Amino acid sequence: MRILITAGPTREYLDDVRYLSNASSGQMGYELARAALDAGHEVALVSGPVTIAAPEGCELYQVETTDEMYSRCEQLFKECDGVIGTAAVCDYRIKTRKPGKIAKTGEAITLELVETIDVLAELGTQKENRWVMGFALESQDARFNAVRKLYSKKCDAIVLNGVSAIGSAENFVEVIDQSQETVATYSGPKASVARELIAWIQSHIATP
Ligand code: CTP
Ligand code: CA
Repeated sequence: MRILITAGPTREYLDDVRYLSNASSGQMGYELARAALDAGHEVALVSGPVTIAAPEGCELYQVETTDEMYSRCEQLFKECDGVIGTAAVCDYRIKTRKPGKIAKTGEAITLELVETIDVLAELGTQKENRWVMGFALESQDARFNAVRKLYSKKCDAIVLNGVSAIGSAENFVEVIDQSQETVATYSGPKASVARELIAWIQSHIATP
């Protein structure tokens, strides 16, 4: 298979030097890329800014903003068999990015934020015979929210993980498929969770 993987955070700029982002390390996506390559697949990895190195043998496409991530993914998805969305995409961007550098005024300022494009949901609408696996990062009503995202993003399966996954070397995940049931649980170092997830994809959603 040729697998598209999104990873890392995105950045949304307020002006030319400042941005909103999050603490995603990119590790889960990079480990999935490594596990997929080791299993003999091709990987196109679309990544926001991270400090870790991409595994040898994967095609790396570096992006910063959510719009850049979407444009790159839309183009690559056409040539892929499926997508795994691990990126911690910014949910909001600044409505009007200011050129240069915003100067202090001595008073409080208000930023107007608008929602970013939902990369995975857009790919879901374009999927045709391709498969889509999402990740859901939840701190409350986890199962309810994960199932809602599974449907709204047209995923074949969604991987539920807790906020403790951010920045950690370990993860505990539940795979929920269209039956709305947890069909697999994996825990341990992200590298081993990644290998289990690739094996699960191979035997459950990518079979012809
Ligand atoms: N995602 C995406 N583009 C966005 C937001 C999310 O591609 N603009 C993807 C993530 O990569 C992940 C899935 O959608 O695979 C779920 O992300 P999550 O942040 O858990 O859900 P949201 O739909 O953004 O909802 P919320 O953050 O409000 O819970
Ligand atoms: Ca989100």
